[in-house]
Amino acid sequence: MTKSAVLILLGPPGAGKGTQARMLEEKFGLVQLSTGDLLRAAVAAGTEAGLAAKAVMEAGQLVSDEIVLAILKDRLAEPDTAKGVILDGFPRTEVQAAALDDLLAAQGSAIDAAISLEVDDAAMVERVAGRYTCGNCGEGYHDSFKQPAVAGVCDKCGSTEFKRRADDNAETVGARLEAYHAQTAPLISYYEGKGVLSRVDAMGEINRVAGDLAAVVVKATT
Ligand code: AP5
Repeated sequence: MTKSAVLILLGPPGAGKGTQARMLEEKFGLVQLSTGDLLRAAVAAGTEAGLAAKAVMEAGQLVSDEIVLAILKDRLAEPDTAKGVILDGFPRTEVQAAALDDLLAAQGSAIDAAISLEVDDAAMVERVAGRYTCGNCGEGYHDSFKQPAVAGVCDKCGSTEFKRRADDNAETVGARLEAYHAQTAPLISYYEGKGVLSRVDAMGEINRVAGDLAAVVVKATT
């Protein structure tokens, strides 16, 4: 694994980007950068960007490239990202992909792997609607597919506070899936053209998907 690996996880809502990014972070010592999490933090903090993003996110649409790029650039400037990053939910448009290429080129860096998590849309509504996270550490869970070992207690930090996202309802998930196919899925060809694309079947059990992803990451970074 090179010190400054840059990995991208592509996939529709519910594909497992966040779940797998957290597992890769632990396994390889990389830093997960989720633009969804950064935007939700901006909304919670009531910043100007957060105020502009809130309604757009709740409608399942994409936040403007300008806002997302500003937030991502700030986060990438933090020193911990020198360990290497897993981009979760970014880029989502061709404008964002081109801006990322420019940003990395300016640092003498480049994308090691863009990994498309391949799933059936029909299963994603159930995955997203059943999702909840630890209110303290952010560990992700699911009503059916991934419950804490002790009911009501986070496996990672022991917290008993859990939360659900405002945009995790069937209607908004439909809009998010549409936005993915219209604006983000074309990036699969974009990265294929650059020779950095891998596809992983993400319909299987979480740990099996993690094993397949780890194999791709090792191959791309060593
Ligand atoms: P974001 O937070 O990125 O949400 P998303 O892309 O819709 O993805 P999700 O977080 O819903 O799904 P995931 O793939 O991470 O799945 P997870 O691992 O949680 O973005 C939210 C909003 O922010 C966007 O709609 C947009 O408005 C805005 N935004 C963000 N980035 C942007 C950008 N770059 N540009 C513009 N706007 C942006 O898994 C889901 C559930 O399934 C979990 O409960 C998990 O336990 C379970 N699960 C995972 N894998 C499996 C499996 N293999 N089998 C069974 N269950 C599984």
